[in-house]
Parts: sequence; structure tokens; C-alpha cells
Amino acid sequence: MRSARAIAHSNIALVKYWGKRAAVAGQTDDLNLPAVGSLSMTLDSLRSETQVGPSPADVFTLNGEAIEGGMATKVFRHLDRIWTARGEKGARPPCAVDSINHLPTSAGLASSASGFAALTLAGAGALELEASTATLSALARRGSGSASRSLWGGFVRLDRGELADGSDCVARQLFPADYWDVRLLVVHTARGKKAVGSTAGMEESRATSPYFDAWVATSEADLAAGEAALAARDLATLGAVMEQSMFKMHACMLATRPPILYWNGVTLEVLRALWEARQAGIEGYGTSDAGPHVKVLCASETAPKLEALLRGVPGVLAVDTVRPGPDAQVEVSP
Ligand code: PMV
Repeated sequence: MRSARAIAHSNIALVKYWGKRAAVAGQTDDLNLPAVGSLSMTLDSLRSETQVGPSPADVFTLNGEAIEGGMATKVFRHLDRIWTARGEKGARPPCAVDSINHLPTSAGLASSASGFAALTLAGAGALELEASTATLSALARRGSGSASRSLWGGFVRLDRGELADGSDCVARQLFPADYWDVRLLVVHTARGKKAVGSTAGMEESRATSPYFDAWVATSEADLAAGEAALAARDLATLGAVMEQSMFKMHACMLATRPPILYWNGVTLEVLRALWEARQAGIEGYGTSDAGPHVKVLCASETAPKLEALLRGVPGVLAVDTVRPGPDAQVEVSP
């Protein structure tokens, strides 16, 4: 076994993923197959750095703090998947995993995307799994659906696929980071972690939300429209698709029993301020994930004006302006 260090950047879905495909009888649901495809932008400054190396026993530290159970269990289960992907039947060698999130953890800011992408790359490097980026992306998906998109920079699409073995559920880069000079403004509206994790929330939505089937049925058209707008660098069309995809996802969440409400009052005030700004000719489009923060897509030249305006919304804690980010990277040492 070797030591490897990886950096992966977070991503935000412009066309959203929410919900997993029901597991096929006789198959483990460990494949983590999404019910819908998605389209994302990788983010420059929000990233995870993960080091995996040999150790007398499995140990996991996150931002310098030793973690046991919960997230640590998920991390080591993921390294087991990488070991199994080598064709190994026996026990995996014990590993030390040291991870730093340059973004808030579990706050709806896609730390699982960058975290599992970095863990997959560093784990494969350390456990000496030779695999293509597409294969590593499929492995990352089994840790967290959104992580499969964080292997690449720029703009990335994850296909839903149809096959039960997940072999056609693949992510790929549509355009690199320098394709379009846009910005994503990350508008922070609260501190702390989200109440409902996305894995549990998605299962509850699939099982109980009367809007889940409509969400799935309309998502493929959103994906096609989003990709076409991106290919044309058409911000207004992409923005409209983006906002509707986000509102449909949150409507599906809200109609879940018990309801899943990630927003707070400030989330809504920010969305309203954004619409008012648009009417006044300052163009930006909003999205939000499994948390109360709002992310706004806009042209680079609009970003300073919009950032100042959104900072002024009562309750907004901070606004970060982020560029499209690069591919994930790994360095392996003997
Ligand atoms: O794959 P997860 O568990 O990180 O879930 C991602 C879900 C959303 O962030 C709400 C949407 C998305 O496509 O990233």
C-alpha cells in the first residue's frame, strides 16, 4: 500500500438530483443509483483535501478532529469498496484517513461531493487501484451521488442510466472551467448542520411524496434544456431551467411525510431580492440544496453588484463569489 493525497472541488447542481432508484430485488442498493440525471458546476474555492496512507488500525480525522462511528464508518466502508474493486476478497489493509474540508461540513454546501470524490481518488491511489476517471466517478457515486460529478472541473453531467447494474449511470465533463466566465454567489443564511441528511430525506420523499413521480417524469426534459442552454451560453434560459428544477425538488421535499423543509425565512428573502434585482436589470438565478443557503449563478461582470445587493438582505451572514473550478487531482507517494 502507498500514501496518496487528493484534492477535489465541490459542485452545485444547476439541474438537481433528488431520490434514488428503488433497489432491484436480490441486489444490494449499495450502487446508489439516482432516480434522475443531473447537471452541475464545479466550484473553485470550496474543496476537500484527503490523505490516505498505511496505519496499524483504521483512523479518520476530519479538520484535525478524530471521528469515530457515523461519518468514519462511511469513510471506511468506502475504502472497502475500492479494495473490492481491485478484485480482492480478503480484508483491506488498515488505513489512516486525514481530511480537511475547506467549506462547512453537512450544511447543504456539498461537502459530501468534494469529500467522497477526494476520498475515492486518494483511496484508489493508496490502495493501488488502476482505474479510469469514469470508473472512479462511479465508485465515488456509491459514497454520495453528487460526488460522482466532482471528479471533473467545469460543467458536468451525470446520466441516470437505465441498467440495473448501474453501468450506464455515468458522469462526464461537458465543458471545462474556462468555457464560460460565470460566477456562483454562495449566500449563507444560517450556521450549523442540516437537520435531515440527504440520503434519509431522499428515501422518505420516494416513499411518501405524491410529487415524487412528477419530479422524476419531468427531470429528463430539464436536463436536456439545461445542457442545450449551457452549450449556447444562454444564461437566461439556463437560469429559468435551474430555478424550476430547484423549486420542483423543494416542492417534492415539502410534500414528503413528515415534510422536509430546508429553507429558513432568509432563504425566501434572498430569492425575492434576486427576482427584484432581475426586474431592475441585474441578472442572476438562484438554486438551493439540502440546506438553507442560496447559490446564485450570474455573469462575472454582474457578480460585484449582485454580491453587494444580497449582502444587504437582512439575515444574510456572508456572500462568497466562486468561479468554475478545476478537475480533481491526486498525488501518490511510495
Ligand atoms: O449526493 P448527495 O447525498 O450529496 O445529495 C445531493 C442532493 C442535492 O445536493 C440536494 C442535489 C444535487 O444534485 O447535488
